[in-house]
Amino acid sequence: MRSLSRILALASQLWPLYVAVVTGAVLNAATGLGVPFVIKAATDEVVAALTGTGGSVTTVVWLAVGLLGLDIAHTVIGNLGGYAGDLMAVRLRSILSRRYFEKLLRLPQDYFDNQLTGTIISRLQRSITETTTFLNSFANNFLPLLITVGAALVIIASYSPWLALLLVAIYPVFTWLTMLTSRRWQVLEGQKNTAFDIAGGRFAEVVGQIRVVKSFGSQQRELDHFTGQYDTTVAITRVQSAFWHRMDVLRGIALNVIFFGIYVIIFTTTVQGAFTIGVMVLLIQLVTMARAPVTMMSYLVDSAQRAITGSTDYLAVMDEVEEPSPPADAGGSVPGQAAVPAQATVPAQAAVRAQAGQPLLEFRQASFGYGTGEDVLREVSFTVARGERVALVGESGGGKTTLTSLLLGLYPLRAGTLLVDGRDIADLPVESLRSLVGIVFQDPSLFSGTIRENLAYGRPDAGEAEIIDAARRAHAHGFIIGLPGGYDAEIGERGVKLSGGQKQRIAIARALLKDAPILVLDEATSSLDSKAERLVQEGLDELMSDRTTLIIAHRLATIAGVDRIVTLADGRVDEIGTPAELATTGGIYAELLALQGSRAGRKSLRRFEIVG
Ligand SMILES: Nc1ncnc2c1ncn2[C@@H]1O[C@H](COP(=O)(O)OP(=O)(O)OP(=O)(O)O)[C@@H](O)[C@H]1O
Ligand SMILES: [Mg+2]
Repeated sequence: MRSLSRILALASQLWPLYVAVVTGAVLNAATGLGVPFVIKAATDEVVAALTGTGGSVTTVVWLAVGLLGLDIAHTVIGNLGGYAGDLMAVRLRSILSRRYFEKLLRLPQDYFDNQLTGTIISRLQRSITETTTFLNSFANNFLPLLITVGAALVIIASYSPWLALLLVAIYPVFTWLTMLTSRRWQVLEGQKNTAFDIAGGRFAEVVGQIRVVKSFGSQQRELDHFTGQYDTTVAITRVQSAFWHRMDVLRGIALNVIFFGIYVIIFTTTVQGAFTIGVMVLLIQLVTMARAPVTMMSYLVDSAQRAITGSTDYLAVMDEVEEPSPPADAGGSVPGQAAVPAQATVPAQAAVRAQAGQPLLEFRQASFGYGTGEDVLREVSFTVARGERVALVGESGGGKTTLTSLLLGLYPLRAGTLLVDGRDIADLPVESLRSLVGIVFQDPSLFSGTIRENLAYGRPDAGEAEIIDAARRAHAHGFIIGLPGGYDAEIGERGVKLSGGQKQRIAIARALLKDAPILVLDEATSSLDSKAERLVQEGLDELMSDRTTLIIAHRLATIAGVDRIVTLADGRVDEIGTPAELATTGGIYAELLALQGSRAGRKSLRRFEIVG
């Protein structure tokens, strides 16, 4: 229950709706409770007429008119309350979903490395749907009912305290019996949700990579795995539901016995003359009203439990530790760039270039490993001067991409420091850091939408001329205008409608348009043929001439023109030097050079994955 009240508190701006819902429920209950009294009065009037002790047709008709008025008011108020309840639920849903997304966007990379996308989505769907559905039906149905019952009990007590006492006893007994089942029920529900999440996670992954699935003919295997998870949920539900309904039979019988006592009291007291017929009719109606929530209790508890499980899942994500980001005023911002959003790279660039003298990038004894695994990078130290072009060379899996992730502040270092412009990145707000880096990822990672939207992803305000200029420099303009729709062509999910080389060129243009002071190219041209690569390279060379660049490429021709090369072996820096220097030392670079230079050498090429 605490989780549900935390959820309500999260959306405290909805208080006018909360008030409307509660007011509606109170008025709804009041109009509902009026009805038994009018019927009591009518019954007494009818009995009086029949026994010749008074009573008139006019009064009875007026009472019927009163009933009509109450019923109409009940219907109208019920629907107004329902409207407020629906609105509250949908706004709550929107607020909770937004907060969830906002939270996810602030979680560290490490969280996403360990979750399946589909699982994240299915958890969001379930936790929010179940929480808001419960609150919606609570507002629209349960709350008016609970108020009605409370008032009915008070009225019954004024006629017969014993009756009220018997009725009141039902609720704790019934709730206790329900709670007995609830713990086991929740454990089973949790197991079912895990199975749903696994199935949902895999489902999204398979649909996202359907080509691979088709090519390996693994549809049946994927289907079996998926069905297996659902079979698990069926098996669990069998146990869960049988248990629940067994307990419900017990609860139902206990309830029936108590009501037997209640009716015996009402009937015998009336026969003994202590209640008029009207009072008997009134009490029977009130008792029936009080019974409704008891029979609804199973449903209420069931959906409340789902909501509690859902909101607990939701809050678990909300309580995840966020990406560390020191406040902008903690002296962590880049000079002249306090709390600048990611797009505002121009002042950042100016600020960075203004401070000559120290290296722009400096890895100092930096060590890092993923999760609890062993170190991938060990005491890495090297610097990149302003405007310098440095290439990273090393075997596949050697940690080159990892270095770029550290530069983006996606993971914290285990030891050592990484300085950007003389500042430890641990003290820099991640947004400022990332605004300094334009990156072309090893996997181009485009979004669905148009070419134009993808190009302008880092600078949504970029003008047409700038977009075309970036595309030209990445040698992408030619193929873009050839596409139906040109810059407005839709490229499909993750850019599936483009070739590998086309995607890379869009990714390069996207990074160029961001125009950040540090450019990182991770195998940026690996999918291009030699001719296209040369053309893209020319565009890049021009761009790199006044920009600090970190280049990763397996194809050595791509990095022949860099200022310095850093080679990595076993996660450590092996050598640092100019291409000419390293060509003669006999180290990794020289070895690669020899291998790539000779066809014969390729046969013995095991350690290095070379696309040449
Ligand atoms: N998110 C991750 N979680 C755990 N381990 C990872 C993760 N990403 C990479 N690794 C591991 O870290 C090591 C370095 O990977 P990295 O991607 O940095 O290599 P690389 O030098 O870029 O290789 P390549 O040339 O093939 O792109 C590898 O052993 C890899 O298995
Ligand atoms: Mg890599």
